[in-house]
Amino acid sequence: MQETQPRARIRFRDEGPEVEDFKTEVIENLSRERKTLPCKFFYDKTGSALFDRICELDEYYPTRTEISLLARHGEEFAELSGRACHVIEFGSGSSVKVKLLLDKLDEPATYTAIDISRDHLIGATSALAEEFPEIDVEAVWADYTQPLSMGRENGDAGRRLGFFPGSTIGNFAPEEAHAFLERSAETIGAGGSMLIGVDLKKDEETLIAAYNDREGVTAAFNENLLARINRELEADFDLSAFSHDAVYNREHGRIEMHLVSERDQTATIGDRSFDFRAGETIHTENSYKYSIEQFQGLCREANYEPVQAWTDPAGMFSLHYLNVA
Ligand code: AVJ
Repeated sequence: MQETQPRARIRFRDEGPEVEDFKTEVIENLSRERKTLPCKFFYDKTGSALFDRICELDEYYPTRTEISLLARHGEEFAELSGRACHVIEFGSGSSVKVKLLLDKLDEPATYTAIDISRDHLIGATSALAEEFPEIDVEAVWADYTQPLSMGRENGDAGRRLGFFPGSTIGNFAPEEAHAFLERSAETIGAGGSMLIGVDLKKDEETLIAAYNDREGVTAAFNENLLARINRELEADFDLSAFSHDAVYNREHGRIEMHLVSERDQTATIGDRSFDFRAGETIHTENSYKYSIEQFQGLCREANYEPVQAWTDPAGMFSLHYLNVA
């Protein structure tokens, strides 16, 4: 396989997941009574490109709303964060949003990008390093849902500002979100802060349209997960016999994405086989929606003190600035 090589301008740390981990997790999740697949596996090269297209869709309001909030309140983030801070982004993707932040902060010293998609990470951080030559850029290829060592080895005493945009926190069930927040507070350390983007509860129609767009980009994104399993794990899922579905689960306050088996069928992965009944689904993603108060409550329970929250005039999306308690 041809892999993108990191350029000299960035420091690269390889803590990337192995193909074997992918296989083990896929088999484990498909062996459950209610079949699931972890949404972090969406982001191979094809999936990351499809996700970037989702962010441009009319129906997908979170990206543009969050970008306008980041652009509008830059001075306030700078004021709150002080000089020469160390920005750590969890799930940096294309590193588009962080540039708005780095532009406004007062001489940020270091940017650490953590992402599970290796090529995306290297491409994005290399370009960012060219654009911000005065910032020390570090790329960490890792699954940030797992514990990460972020010691202060090389005399790094800077104040840390975590950045977790996109409402990616919505992928976590409340207890996982709690665990992530607690762990991130530890990584960031006393005196540090966190800026998180969180999607807000709203009418069901708007939510469903955002996850079931007319062009079918979200459907392709969801179905790519099976295509990826076929490509990487010697599997034989019949892509034409699974269809995309997005529903709002009111009880849990979350959008759920599923792949629906259109008929009775069997798929194999290596020497394992998985039976599907017609109508049975693989639950591929949760996207939890919060109210501002509800999210602040979650933060307080996880070692953060909410400092400020911003929202757009239509109340679609929120940004939260938190201090490590
Ligand atoms: C990247 C997790 C924030 O849940 O809105 C977009 C992923 N899935 N469309 C989201 C996603 C389908 C997205 N997050």
